[in-house]
Amino acid sequence: MAVRLDGQVALVTGAGRGLGRAYALDLAKHGAKVIVNDFGGSVSGEGNDETPAQQVVNEIKAAGGEAVANAGDVGNYEDCFNMVKLAMDTWGRLDALVANAGILRDLALHNMSENDWDLVIRVHLKQCYNLLHHAWPVFRQQAYGRVVMATSTSGLIGNFGQANYGAAKAAMYGLMNVAKIEGEKYNINVNLISPGAATRMTDNLMGAQGQDAAERQVVMGPEHVAPAVTYLCSPQCVESGVCIDAAGGHYGRIAIVRNAGVNYDPHEHKDADWFESNWAKITDLTGATAPWSFRETREAHYAAKQ
Ligand SMILES: NC(=O)c1ccc[n+]([C@@H]2O[C@H](COP(=O)([O-])OP(=O)(O)OC[C@H]3O[C@@H](n4cnc5c(N)ncnc54)[C@H](O)[C@@H]3O)[C@@H](O)[C@H]2O)c1
Repeated sequence: MAVRLDGQVALVTGAGRGLGRAYALDLAKHGAKVIVNDFGGSVSGEGNDETPAQQVVNEIKAAGGEAVANAGDVGNYEDCFNMVKLAMDTWGRLDALVANAGILRDLALHNMSENDWDLVIRVHLKQCYNLLHHAWPVFRQQAYGRVVMATSTSGLIGNFGQANYGAAKAAMYGLMNVAKIEGEKYNINVNLISPGAATRMTDNLMGAQGQDAAERQVVMGPEHVAPAVTYLCSPQCVESGVCIDAAGGHYGRIAIVRNAGVNYDPHEHKDADWFESNWAKITDLTGATAPWSFRETREAHYAAKQ
């Protein structure tokens, strides 16, 4: 089935540059009208400039699509309300939400100030609350909605110097797990994208790996991630609660899994020595499954729906 979003409206945050720009362009290419949000700040979140968002709107229009720019700050509750309102006032609906805007304030934990912590949590994690909270009544009323939040292996797996960023990104997994359950009966799907792409955010990191800049743009360009986001935003995607790992030349899935563990009779108390001697079996991931909720496995959940 062809992936199409004709007549649908998508809001993409941080869409003036990098990955967000690629998502906005690809969504428009697949028929969506797009609210292009970007406050146009630096990688560390300073300053603002409406030009990047407007440039992407111009690109979409030049290709025959429809788009409107918004320069709101995703960490601001009212600004996020106004992004949803802009979609409703302009086109009377909002179908897909891509919470993508992001900044970095990388520092080792002992050097990380309270301000660096708060700001990163605000832009990444509070953004998601702000947007989901304001979009939810629209999605419920339409009995339709698609949400994609931009997470990162920095939190899902780990990376030095990114305690604030990693914590915010991994928290999106928890938010997805709850929102997918709250949204299910309204056909609201909530998924994650864990991207890898050559953007200004990864310039230092990928540059340091010695790859030629032009070649990096070809093999790690944000346009290799966009097809996954377009699919997750489309009516064709019926899955909810999945984290897609995407980078030039690779698509996969990252999941929290639960193993079989070890069962014992709780009438017989086990001490720390017993725990130590059973560590290998307790932590063995052979046959681990990805639960859909704490009550059931993903397999049981989807089997029950068929
Ligand atoms: N590039 C990667 O490899 C990579 C890896 C993992 C996760 N991510 C995530 O993907 C997303 C996009 O990253 P990118 O690499 O395209 O970075 P980027 O710096 O190129 O783009 C981010 C955009 O977000 C905007 N933005 C920042 N704070 C904002 C705010 N408060 N309100 C509105 N707009 C704001 C910026 O102006 C910028 O245009 C981020 O959430 C990032 O954490 C990127």
